[in-house]
Amino acid sequence: MMATHLPLPLRPAWQAALKHFEEVENHTLGELFAADPQRGERFSLEWDGLYLDYSKNRITAETLPLLARLAEECGLGERIEAMFSGQAINLTEKRAALHTALRLPPQARLVVDGVDMVPQVQAVLERMAAFAGRIRSGEWLGFTGRPVRSIVNIGIGGSDLGPVMAYEALKAYSERTLALRFVSNVDGTDFAEAVRDLDPAETLFIVSSKTFTTQETMTNAHTARAWCLEALGDERAVSRHFVAVSTNAQRVAQFGIDPDNMFGFWDWVGGRYSLDSAIGLSTMIAIGGENFRRMLAGFYAMDQHFLSAPFTENLPVILGLLTVWYTDFFGARSQAVLPYDQYLKRFPAYLQQLTMESNGKSVTRAGDLVTYHTCPVFWGEPGTNGQHSFYQLLHQGTQLIPCDFICFAQSLNPLGEHQDLLVSNVFAQAEALAFGKSADTLRSEGMAEWLVPHRTFHGNRPSNVLLAERLTPEVLGKLVALYEHSVFTQSVIWDINPFDQWGVELGKALAQRIVPELQSPEAPSLAHDSSTNALIHRYRRLHRG
Ligand code: F6P
Repeated sequence: MMATHLPLPLRPAWQAALKHFEEVENHTLGELFAADPQRGERFSLEWDGLYLDYSKNRITAETLPLLARLAEECGLGERIEAMFSGQAINLTEKRAALHTALRLPPQARLVVDGVDMVPQVQAVLERMAAFAGRIRSGEWLGFTGRPVRSIVNIGIGGSDLGPVMAYEALKAYSERTLALRFVSNVDGTDFAEAVRDLDPAETLFIVSSKTFTTQETMTNAHTARAWCLEALGDERAVSRHFVAVSTNAQRVAQFGIDPDNMFGFWDWVGGRYSLDSAIGLSTMIAIGGENFRRMLAGFYAMDQHFLSAPFTENLPVILGLLTVWYTDFFGARSQAVLPYDQYLKRFPAYLQQLTMESNGKSVTRAGDLVTYHTCPVFWGEPGTNGQHSFYQLLHQGTQLIPCDFICFAQSLNPLGEHQDLLVSNVFAQAEALAFGKSADTLRSEGMAEWLVPHRTFHGNRPSNVLLAERLTPEVLGKLVALYEHSVFTQSVIWDINPFDQWGVELGKALAQRIVPELQSPEAPSLAHDSSTNALIHRYRRLHRG
């Protein structure tokens, strides 16, 4: 049998990695650093202004080459090529995953099934930029003739998390006279709080939904329509206060949004990969067309790096392989992403969808149950806040949790010594996680014996540090593409399709069945399990008061 067709655990490179792991697990990071005074430089990589220090990982000089061999055996090179060339790699939905086409420069060409994708992508970007320009300049007027001052993006999942993350990340580049709000939750509180201080006459709603059928988004969009029309009193106001971003022109028209006010994209753009499409309209209005293009250029640069760098010098491949290393060999079940920049406060939430909706799967592409672990839980909070809540567990808990620290040398808000204090914490945390503080050291410092076990840090806890000069639109694009391609790399090793999300369907369908049971005036006859039946009865009683 050819190695490429073997189940993952039977691949020669996997077996070799397993054997290698059995040696590496006995070495501490302290020992590895002591044995190689150049380790910090040797296990780091600088590419286009991004510096990755991966030296504080539990790896030796042999590890990455071995894992790169595994990537080769799993066909990573061919799969990258298949993705970038528009092959229908999203097998269960029978379509391409061509988000990389969204950031190709205007002069590029990408012909898929005889059609060049680039002109269509550029045409939408130009329409978006023209529209964003009209909002930003005050030329676009609301129904009563007043310029728009508030923009509310209504969307959920990829139609929310990408835009809100990028807007927050690039707030320093945004037009501060405009208020941007993001409504996603079907909980009415989200909408109510988002609009409570807004004037309908000056508010534009962007209804963002790939399918234009998502319950939360449609419910919020109808509520927004009612809120707007109640104040403005005329159906014609909809065309001045609502635009849509979708692939579903028919549904958009049914909702009553003028097709001229619709920005389209394509079924080959997955929700969690859609920030660079028209789904990014709210972000573009905030930061302007030029900064949006700068962000796309960052994505494109990382795409080119992913396409061309050898696996052992390829940032997304290295990060992806390290995730596999810890998940499948060290048994790590979660990974923390810790941005030390307040502007990146939504980055972990964004990454949660990107990573877990993509790789939270347990069957291979051929539909066989996997016999190894796939995606760990991704989570995180900006530093230094997290240090005062969950870092205790990172340092002294019973689980191994690899951490990615992200930080910048320059603040976009330089204030006194804040940046030095912030970044000192990144370096200190990575150092503490790796090397800890031994019982012997504590004793030599005169620590009372009964306290020693409580104060001991065993260390040997892995982390990466990503450092760039400052947070710019280009850097944000590079960072997001870095994780996108890391996720893709992981999916190739695990032999899973990262581009579908069937796991979200069952709950949606069951909720549709429960809605009428909550709403019917007569007590419904329920055929759920006894727990669900009891919850429905209790809700009905309490809801009616
Ligand atoms: O929850 C599943 C999901 O389909 C996500 O993948 C997607 O990003 C989100 O819902 C929103 O979908 P839509 O853009 O079609 O409203």
